[in-house]
Amino acid sequence: MPSLTTSHELRVLWRARPAMAAVLLAGHAAAGPRRARRGASGTRARQGGLRKVPGLGWVSADPVVARTVLTDHRHFTIVGEGGVGHLWAQILGDWVLDLFDGPGHHDLRTRSRELFTESSAAALVSGAWSDQLVAARGTLRDGGTVDVARLATVLVGRMMISLLGIPTAGPPTDDDAARAFATGERLASIALGSAGSTYLSGEQVAAAREIVAELTSGVPDGWRSAPPDTLLGRCRELGLGLDETTGLASLLMVAGTETSASAMSRTAALLVDTGEQHRLLARMSAERADPRPRAPGEPDAVENVVREGLRVTSPASVIGRGVAADVEVAGRTLRAGERIMLLTWSANAGAGPFRADRPYVRETRQLWFGAGRHLCLGAALARAEIAALLHALWDDGAPLRVVDRRAKSNVLVPGYERLVLTRA
Ligand code: HEM
Repeated sequence: MPSLTTSHELRVLWRARPAMAAVLLAGHAAAGPRRARRGASGTRARQGGLRKVPGLGWVSADPVVARTVLTDHRHFTIVGEGGVGHLWAQILGDWVLDLFDGPGHHDLRTRSRELFTESSAAALVSGAWSDQLVAARGTLRDGGTVDVARLATVLVGRMMISLLGIPTAGPPTDDDAARAFATGERLASIALGSAGSTYLSGEQVAAAREIVAELTSGVPDGWRSAPPDTLLGRCRELGLGLDETTGLASLLMVAGTETSASAMSRTAALLVDTGEQHRLLARMSAERADPRPRAPGEPDAVENVVREGLRVTSPASVIGRGVAADVEVAGRTLRAGERIMLLTWSANAGAGPFRADRPYVRETRQLWFGAGRHLCLGAALARAEIAALLHALWDDGAPLRVVDRRAKSNVLVPGYERLVLTRA
């Protein structure tokens, strides 16, 4: 499928989980060409985007169906079988059900709205990452190589150590950061088998509880005494209790580690593999030469690539929900107790191949971050993280090439294990 995305991207998906890659590609094929679907009218055309697959339940690669489901909180639930809340309740306890859905979730989101704003995200990134990014830029300038996959792992691990107050022996090292990342990865891998069912075995629950205890061991201390300009201190100031803060901390760890690292290195690879880095460099240079004010919300060249990289990679390639009450969607009747998988990768990638200057795609909007009340809480942080890496790699104006790469195998979130870049 050469026009859908790059062969390297397809390999990344394939190595992560061949069965899931097959579902994503089949979903894309079944959704059909966008233009034809938009032109066709009514139920028949839309039904192609929603079908029942044995062993998986309802599956859709249609962005309109995905948004309909994610914003319909009366008929679909994240805490029913098929949603991630169902997984978490088994690990953390039933109190999670209130944190994930209904009034408890509404209250948590209202209180935590201020946790990651554009400006707090930028401050977090420059605080936790600037030394590593300056060093990587210097290495490339000197003609050396940078393993962007390792760099992304270390950066995201550092972010988690600083956000969650994970205890380290002294100032956190790159090894501490890689260890924190790997622990988050282990926790996420427990959800690997959940495509067919979100019920966990007793062993999986015990293993997950042990990891959560390890990752959140610094939370009680931080929640009690960390200054208000840290995440844990802010949680306390916002009135979140220790249970809620611990739950939120575990969520951040799982939701915001592999996803961010995946988007960072895959976007860097896409820029090189598609040759779009040249368009990016030209646009950056034009912006420097003529720094005109931008309209509110208008992205600069790097911000545009961040959005495009998120669209094409869609690291959370699937979002699951349980059906809470019988409902009709796209001409099909979904029954309470069934599950639905929204193939966000297929829905987003369907808008066309990676282009550094692609304008905003209205149909997908920001489906890579979900939609509705569970829309990614860390979206601003994720965008700031990816932008910071792209600036470090391309701000010097020189194109890069890939020296070596290896995709991760058997992981929930597709990504690179190694992506070594140097100046072209
Ligand atoms: C490229 C990086 C990221 C992607 C693609 C991504 C994607 C998503 C998606 C699709 C959801 C919705 C899941 C659903 O509806 O079932 C979500 C939720 C969430 N994300 Fe992200 N995420 C990213 C980074 C982050 C970061 C950096 C953080 C925080 C440190 C974060 C924190 C969260 C939280 C807390 C939720 C749950 C929100 C809720 O249920 O109300 N994410 N993310």
